[in-house]
Amino acid sequence: MPDGLPTEIDLTRPSAARVYDYFLGGAHNFEIDRQLAEQIASMTPNLAATMRSGREFLRRAVRVLLDAGIDQFLDIGSGIPTVGNVHEVAQGVNPKARVVYVDIDPVAVAHSRELLAGNELTGVIHADLREPERILAETRQLGLIEFSRPVGILLAGVVHFIPDADRPEAILATLREAAAPGSFLVISHSTFEDQPQEMLDAQRLSARTATEITLRSRAQVTGFFGDWTVLEPGVVHMPLWRPDSPSDVDEHPERFGAFGGVARYDQPAG
Ligand SMILES: C[S@@+](CC[C@H](N)C(=O)[O-])C[C@H]1O[C@@H](n2cnc3c(N)ncnc32)[C@H](O)[C@@H]1O
Repeated sequence: MPDGLPTEIDLTRPSAARVYDYFLGGAHNFEIDRQLAEQIASMTPNLAATMRSGREFLRRAVRVLLDAGIDQFLDIGSGIPTVGNVHEVAQGVNPKARVVYVDIDPVAVAHSRELLAGNELTGVIHADLREPERILAETRQLGLIEFSRPVGILLAGVVHFIPDADRPEAILATLREAAAPGSFLVISHSTFEDQPQEMLDAQRLSARTATEITLRSRAQVTGFFGDWTVLEPGVVHMPLWRPDSPSDVDEHPERFGAFGGVARYDQPAG
């Protein structure tokens, strides 16, 4: 066991967070993770680009939320804070922005705590998205986020780890119900729509990490926003969501394999 890591880390199985970290060029991964990452990459050379595209979508979405005045973020499934984290983007624009990171992976949590030590406007929670009430309770305990004010709830690349049997729509409803009008929800989610077979094969390989991915349709991903107002351009393949420049959009944005979307909780009329 390398120094400084919690003893509950299973080094005999690849971890989704560490495989993702490897694809993003981070240093927080082990041989077992690199082997799986290379195997997946050999089947779909586009995959590392896909993962970076996910991080770029998240950054663009966070900037839109900041422009709308959001100054507190709950980032669930935050991963290992590798390159361009949410708090860096948020506090770069608003030094008073608060960010609570939540992840199920003890490695991601340990590295997040280490990296954020000394940043008093950020917090880290080790929890499972399948327990949204617990996440909300622990977030309240941290005292960083006030749910009476608009909040940005970020679910980037995580809801696809929740199988239908665990009722992701109910989890999403619990999170939405905790939020005040003016809040935003950001989701990116892997999809089978418009995907070539090799992409679908690589997704199946993810079953070897601790959690399997459930690919969903645009309609299903849109459903996770409930009755919140989905912002333009809607739920689209990630590179198409408000690109910084048209030249950033690949010829085949669907090959990035995931939808991105952002919705706002508008106060019901009357
Ligand atoms: C693909 S990474 C996304 C990281 C980051 N949100 C981003 O977009 O750059 C997915 C993360 O979700 C975490 N995760 C998977 N299932 C989870 C669950 N049930 N609850 C909380 N986090 C989970 C994994 O540990 C991993 O760190």
